[in-house]
Amino acid sequence: MAVTVMTAEQTTLDVLLSEEQVQCRIRELGEQIGRDYPIGEIILVGILKGSYLFLADLSRQIPGDIRIEFIQVSSYDGQKSSQGIVQIKKDLDTNIEGKHVLLVEDIVDTGLTLKHLRELLGTRRPRSLKAVCLLSKPEARTHATTVEYVGFEIPNDFVVGYGLDYGERYRNLPFIAILHNSSE
Ligand code: IMP
Ligand code: MG
Repeated sequence: MAVTVMTAEQTTLDVLLSEEQVQCRIRELGEQIGRDYPIGEIILVGILKGSYLFLADLSRQIPGDIRIEFIQVSSYDGQKSSQGIVQIKKDLDTNIEGKHVLLVEDIVDTGLTLKHLRELLGTRRPRSLKAVCLLSKPEARTHATTVEYVGFEIPNDFVVGYGLDYGERYRNLPFIAILHNSSE
């Protein structure tokens, strides 16, 4: 479904996943995660900025007490293609040794970011380390990595909304939409 978004240029986006579809799947993920972990033992680590809405909604669907932490990396730089470098812009403020850590990512594209973070956090000896992503683009994977919980597998298109940006725009949209180049 095409939706016209109020921007200076009245951008038209193609909705890939509606707000209802996103929220419904997040409820399922929250229930599954709640079943898989001992109550009160999870640290959710949101990967900024893209995961901020997913983390907010997912955390409210996991029953019981959990802890929330953030890490910020840059591997993309506002462009439509990934650079080969992952830079830590903000590290965790807490020691994760002996803890159950669940990384929360908006989208796994090439896999570079998640692979790097899993390796880095793994050296800090957490009790367990898993990852949940809202979206995964299997066709784009160039760095093999593991994602234990996947919301939706999507085609290899550039998407925005629900935390995902293009040049820092569109993060606030409550749905996921495909952004086409204006030349297309
Ligand atoms: P990676 O290629 O798996 O390392 O993905 C790195 C980051 O690129 C993700 O966490 C997103 O923030 C961003 N990204 C990847 N694909 C898209 C997209 O389709 N739209 C917006 N951001 C994306
Ligand atoms: Mg991200």
